[in-house]
Amino acid sequence: MPDTPNAVTPLGLPEMDAAHAEFEACAAALRSAAPGAHRGALQALAAHCRAHFDAERQLMESTGCPAADCHVDEHEAVMKSLHEVLAMDDAEAAPVVARLIVALDDWFPAHVDHLDSAVAHWVTKQRHGGVPLVLRRP
Ligand SMILES: [Fe+2]
Ligand SMILES: [Fe+2]
Repeated sequence: MPDTPNAVTPLGLPEMDAAHAEFEACAAALRSAAPGAHRGALQALAAHCRAHFDAERQLMESTGCPAADCHVDEHEAVMKSLHEVLAMDDAEAAPVVARLIVALDDWFPAHVDHLDSAVAHWVTKQRHGGVPLVLRRP
């Protein structure tokens, strides 16, 4: 997979890496939406995030992953922001969406690096007794 400027670190857990690629596709669609015409892309991002975050919560709960509460709180803060913007009319939301995109671009890679990577390590250790390996082509 070619690197893109916003590509997050692969974690080596296929279901999480697939969810992260989908998040980035949804975020890219929102980024490329015309000002004031963001609603469909924002709804798609919110739907993706609900499924993505629920799947991670389920993964953490089913494996007894530590620090799950803190992780889930971060997800829910993002959901709250997405729903607050969706509740605005399109004209009111346009400048907020621009700030939301910047905030998500800042938040998501750090979240993956710090919290999601810990989940991937934990789950892989539970399943296979070791940490995930990520092989990269030069
Ligand atoms: Fe994630
Ligand atoms: Fe997460």
